[in-house]
Amino acid sequence: MVKVVFVCLGNICRSPMAEAIFRQLVKDEGLADQIEVDSAGTSDWHIDSIPHEGTRKILNEYQIPVDGMKARQFRSEDLDEFDYIIAMDRSNIENMQAIHKQGDQDKVILLLDLIEDTDDKDVPDPFFTGDFDQTYDLVTKGTQALLEKIKREQQL
Ligand code: 4NP
Repeated sequence: MVKVVFVCLGNICRSPMAEAIFRQLVKDEGLADQIEVDSAGTSDWHIDSIPHEGTRKILNEYQIPVDGMKARQFRSEDLDEFDYIIAMDRSNIENMQAIHKQGDQDKVILLLDLIEDTDDKDVPDPFFTGDFDQTYDLVTKGTQALLEKIKREQQL
């Protein structure tokens, strides 16, 4: 089993969106029994909250299931347990490093580093921008590239 976790700050906007989109991509490719998907936030601000209304709304529009998702905080054990740790922005990487210096940081990937045709480094945070469509487009491109990378590297 290949284990993937998406990480943002609150775990209510971007990383649950990425988790839901990526899980759907994995399912569509018939890889659901080989790739496990999760998400977490570096803060403890929204533990146990369901995804933000804007994230739920856009996922519903694209008929991507959001049921049963609840925010949790990123733990140092996640750096051992997961094979791919995908940060939504550079501050998420700094936050993971600050809290868990001992972990294997080589597994940490910035989502938008996987997309070639963009100058964006950080997935804009719709909690502040209010633009869930822009975030959806970038997360979709990033997660598609991630699935190709994992299929290649894991020979799936
Ligand atoms: P996320 O967005 O990291 O994409 O879940 C945020 C959600 C909540 C807050 C900040 C960012 N907050 O300040 O509560």
